[in-house]
Order: sequence, then structure tokens, then C-alpha cells
Amino acid sequence: MSRTIIVSNRLPTKVLRTDDSLSFQPSEGGLATGLGSIYRSNNNVWIGWPGLFVHDAAEEAYVTEQLRADSMAPVFLTEPEIRDYYEGFSNATLWPTFHYFHQFATYVDAHWDAYVAVNEKFCRAVLAQAGPEDTIWVHDYQLLLLPEMLRQARPEASIGFFLHIPFPSYEILRLLPWRQEVLHGMLGSDLIGFHTFGYMRHFLSAVSQLLGLPTQSGEIETASHTVRVDVFPMGIDYERYAQAAASDEAAQHEQVYREALRDTRVILSIDRLDYTKGIAQRLRAFECLLQRYPEWREQVSLIMVVVPSRDQVAQYAALKEEIDELVGRINAQYRTITWNPIQYFYHAFPLEELAALYRMAEVALVTPLRDGMNLVAKEFVACKADQHGVLILSERAGAARELSDALVINPTSTSQLAEALHTALVMPDAEQQTRMAAMQALVRRYDVFDWTDNFLGQLAHIKAQQRTLATA
Ligand code: G6P
Repeated sequence: MSRTIIVSNRLPTKVLRTDDSLSFQPSEGGLATGLGSIYRSNNNVWIGWPGLFVHDAAEEAYVTEQLRADSMAPVFLTEPEIRDYYEGFSNATLWPTFHYFHQFATYVDAHWDAYVAVNEKFCRAVLAQAGPEDTIWVHDYQLLLLPEMLRQARPEASIGFFLHIPFPSYEILRLLPWRQEVLHGMLGSDLIGFHTFGYMRHFLSAVSQLLGLPTQSGEIETASHTVRVDVFPMGIDYERYAQAAASDEAAQHEQVYREALRDTRVILSIDRLDYTKGIAQRLRAFECLLQRYPEWREQVSLIMVVVPSRDQVAQYAALKEEIDELVGRINAQYRTITWNPIQYFYHAFPLEELAALYRMAEVALVTPLRDGMNLVAKEFVACKADQHGVLILSERAGAARELSDALVINPTSTSQLAEALHTALVMPDAEQQTRMAAMQALVRRYDVFDWTDNFLGQLAHIKAQQRTLATA
């Protein structure tokens, strides 16, 4: 029976070392919940990095065994590999370039070499697991070369690739010295998926301009095979969030939070620490709101959750300092004895507490400068059982293509953002409800299970067609 093999840089479980013991915890992120039902069924397996540097062979064997029991196969990476492949090429070259932050990008040959070597390491790990009939689904920018490496080893394999971040315009992509290699790497796939039509269009244009390959109606002819390219906007596990928000536990947390905040109205902001998320711009907009509309002072609180991420990469450490400073400055300027404008948390929250925050927030401020999709926007919508609440959403998040009933803004403009905050705070209930109902219908229907089915369904269809053609 054929299996599905999921491959991503990070496994859905991370292994943490505390003192002398190891603990296994879920990784943050929507992919794990979305694919959770798949990799655990049918003898399937998820291949990726468990987030741990192993000390010795015995520890490696122990972690491998524990993860194997939960359908995962670890790829262990060394400290130099993490430095050069993960922090280096993935997060200091590809990430900034693909998010239009090319001024932050470094182009280091040694990082590229490590990227190639680690993609090869992943390739060996996949080949050790995959049989000829299996479907291999590769995820995200850390593994752009893997589809072609797999294709070389297994010309008949069924290979899908999904990019979770934006695909930049040709003018940006061509800044990358290894742009051709990266495109060739992706083209090893049978099916390549993007969140939006815009990203797909940029990819097709890059393939045609940089590789000179014909691209017609979402298909690319390479020397060896046809690659299908399509749009699959990723969704969330809607019921999981809706149920968490409706739980007694979330209601209890909400009550405690409301008392602590003395029933001020809540604006919510949740992100991984990242310069792409526009966190500093958001703080300045909140400051502008308090300046321009003094009537909101002591009436609203901004709850800002920043989840630590990639803090070994220089730009992330600098951003952390900038946020700390801004929060300190704004709070010092506007706080009163009984009110603190910004409640700032630098850690992740467990699901029920997160759901309580979504539930009580009247406004969610999701204003990335660039974001492949942004699932926070969808999670907020799923938690709003009473359909009361306003989503302010950046036009540069993939989610804005779907959630047009949000207040869609340009995140560069502090003034526009401050005005959107004011508009959200005074929006009549009936309008909030109409907008929220429309967004809920969409987010509920196009959930992560629908996304997975669509992608894997289309990949299976392509493969079946290829086999029919081959035997005709
Ligand atoms: C983004 C990327 C994912 C990545 C996640 C967390 O969503 O698209 O591939 O796993 O961020 O980042 P990290 O570097 O901690 O894996």
C-alpha cells in the first residue's frame, strides 16, 4: 500500500533538553495540526529536524525510537549545519530575499554549500523511508533543492512541493546568485503549490525568464517531465480553535484577564518574532492612536504576544531590542497608576489561553509587511463565536486575498493603521457581525483538511494521468 511521506525542516514535535533529561513537545505552527491526521495514519511518516543537538549515538537511537513510535523519522543536524544551512542560507538569505527584505540578505558561499549538503542529507533520509509507490510531499524554503535530488534518485516518484512563504517577483529573485539552482530544485516536483495566485505568477515568470522554459496554463515542460503549478491557500483546523475558544477553561482564563485589565477594550497582536511581521510599525500606530484620539487612553489595552524565534540571527536579535525599547517608551509615556497601555509577552501561550485572548479581543491587528499566508488572522476568526470583533489585516499577507471582509490596510502607513484602529473601535455591532460571518464561512469551509485533500488529490490525479500516458 502506498504511503505519504511528509518532509519539512522542522518536525511537528520538538525535543528539548532540560538539565539531564529530554522532553518531547509539539512545535509551534499550523502545519503540524493540519497534517497531524495524515502522518499518523496509514503507516505514513514525517521526516524532519527534531530541534535537538544529540550528544551521542545512544541518545540518537533513543530519540529516533521515541519519534518512530509517533510516525516521525528525525534528521539530526549538527551545530555547524544549523549555523550555515538554517540560520545562514535559509534564514539570512532565502527568508529575507523572498520577503522583499533584500537589504537584510547575506550571500555567503559556505552557507550555500551547507544548504546543498543538508538538502542531500534530507534526500538520503527520505530515500531510506520511501518505497517506489509512495508519495513524497516536501515543504517550504529550507528544502528547495530536495525535489530535484529526489527526482534524480527516483525518476518515477510522486513528488509534491508546497512553498509556505511568498514567492518574490523576478526582479527580487534575480538578486540571488543561486536563483537558477533554486528553480531547478523545485522543478523536480510533479506539483508545486503556492498560497496565492500572485506568488504562482511570479514563479512562472521566473522560470520562463531565468530558465527559458515554456510555461503554459500552469504547466512547465522540463527535459524530463511536466510540472503542474497551482494555488492552494492554506487553512487552519477551524473546529480545534472554535472548540478551544468555547471551552470552560478559555472562559475562565478570559474572566481572569478581564479583571486584570479592568475591563478595558482589547486590541490583540500575536506573532513569531520576525521583521516581516511589522511589529514595530504596529506599536507606532498604537502610539499614534493614543496621541490622535486621547479619548481611548485608559479605555483600550494592546496585548502584544511575541513568540521567540531565530534569535541567533542578527536581525532578529536587533528587532527584539527595538520592540523592548518601543514598548518601554510608550508605556512610560502614557501609563497611569491604574492602566498600562501595552501588555507585552515574549513567550508562546498554550492553546486554551491563546483562545481566551482571541475570544476577548475586540480587534486583532495582523499587519505584516510581507507574509506568505498568516494563520493568526484565521485563528482569530475561528474563535469569534459571538461574531463580535474586527480584523485589521495587511494587504501584503496572503490571507488578504481571501479575507476581504477584514479592514484591509497598507501596513507601511502609521497614520492609516491608527485610523483603522479607531474605525475598528467604533464599528457598529451589525457591521462587525456581517463581516465576521462572511469570514467565518470561508475559514470554516476551506480548512486545513480541505487544503491537504486538495493538494494530495491533485498530485494523485497528475500521477494517474502520467501512468495512463506512459502505458498508452
Ligand atoms: C514559518 C516558515 C516555517 C517555519 C516557521 C517557524 O512559518 O514558513 O517553515 O517552520 O516559520 O520557524 P522556525 O525557523 O522556527 O522553524
